[in-house]
Amino acid sequence: MSLELTRGEMLRHENFIGGKWLDAVEGNRYAVTNPATQATLAQVANSSAADARAATDAAARALPAWRDRLPRERAQVLNRWHALIIENAEDLARIMSMEQGKPLAEARGEVAYGASYVAWFAEEATKIHGDIIPQTQRGKRMSAIKEPIGVVAAITPWNFPLAMIARKIAPALAAGCTVVAKPAEDTPLTALALAALAQEAGLPDGVLNMISAARDEGIAAVADWLADDRVRKITFTGSTAVGKHLARASAGTLKKLSLELGGNAPFIVFEDADLDAAVDGLMAAKFRNGGQTCVCPNRIYVHRAVFERFAALLAARVSALHVGPATDAKAQIGPMINERAIEKIAKHVDDAVAHGARVLAGGKRLNELGPNYYAPTVLADANEQMVLCCEETFGPVAALFRFDSEGEVIRLANDTPFGLAAYFYTNDVRRIDRVARRLEVGIVGINEGAVASEAAPFGGVKESGYGREGSKYGLEDYLSIKYLCQGGLD
Ligand code: SIN
Repeated sequence: MSLELTRGEMLRHENFIGGKWLDAVEGNRYAVTNPATQATLAQVANSSAADARAATDAAARALPAWRDRLPRERAQVLNRWHALIIENAEDLARIMSMEQGKPLAEARGEVAYGASYVAWFAEEATKIHGDIIPQTQRGKRMSAIKEPIGVVAAITPWNFPLAMIARKIAPALAAGCTVVAKPAEDTPLTALALAALAQEAGLPDGVLNMISAARDEGIAAVADWLADDRVRKITFTGSTAVGKHLARASAGTLKKLSLELGGNAPFIVFEDADLDAAVDGLMAAKFRNGGQTCVCPNRIYVHRAVFERFAALLAARVSALHVGPATDAKAQIGPMINERAIEKIAKHVDDAVAHGARVLAGGKRLNELGPNYYAPTVLADANEQMVLCCEETFGPVAALFRFDSEGEVIRLANDTPFGLAAYFYTNDVRRIDRVARRLEVGIVGINEGAVASEAAPFGGVKESGYGREGSKYGLEDYLSIKYLCQGGLD
């Protein structure tokens, strides 16, 4: 499979600003490569602060008219966009699997997942209600109305090139905001194709603007948005370090922020769990997207009484995973995104082995497939001295820790600055309630490994960030409340 598309025009190389496809102001480009082969897929605009500024100008100009559209009219555009995403799903999936590396079946799944946010927020657009506040004084009427927050800057990661940008842009547009967006350096092509479909759906010029940039230039472009007081909100998915930088750097103009950051999720298997179900849940949660997911379990705690049995079941399943490029129809795990990612995974595994981990599956690079492949790995006897206990590995490595009691495992699970997701397996109903309440996270999977849904609030606590995406709560993040107090009434 190459980048042969039914509609070649889906592959865009330019920025999308004010309804026009434009080269970067300074004329620079950079190469987007296929992580499976390192071949160049496209040369895209390498934007600077000047492009970021032009995008903000366009978004600010488009705001009044878009904000004043009836919610139903905004919903109609979102529904047309959704229909076009579904119609062009195969092209989107191909572009995504080529630039990101995930197997084609998974890329198709991500197109459906991302599209579900567009359909969801099309419906939510028509449900933005305010309140009439019960009177406290005669002659006065008080009410609260909700208004779009303004121009939103969306900065998205490479691991879900379509779903992450869709679940930021769709609620922003539904709320009546306009958007400037920068997809990740490694994976701009899917996002640009999505912007082309939004244009085809009839989104007015300037309502959505998108620029691409390589690493350093991207930092400069985003810095322009951070300093610009017309940008009223930043929505970001990525690392905690970058999230903290965005919070600090946007303080000058006090922007609203939604930050979906690092996870280091615990996955707990209690002694009374259905072990087959727990293995199924772990396979789904851990090996989705090759382990490159913020909600991936990173620390797997297994009760001592079932540890060896669980480890053996898991190792058998992981050893059977088929690794290969998106062109291989059998592939379940693709290449990692880049050299930095593969080096981090190798470092974590080597450090774990040096600290006493037993390798039950994998544990090595697969250089015979290409430079960015790592074998799906199971490590037993993990402990707190290992780097992977406190840092997210972001790769196909399942590290198993032993525990003895519920109190101990809750303490261990919460012993991290992060709090995005946690999972646990048990058949004890009272324990379900107890453990779910005590875990310090934003998302809990209970006897379930696949937690994401457009209808559910996605987001974390502690250093995993704040704000929620998806669900009715996801829309609130793009609205501000205005209080109206009318006096002089009878
Ligand atoms: C993420 O990795 O940030 C998002 C994963 C998801 O939507 O499930």
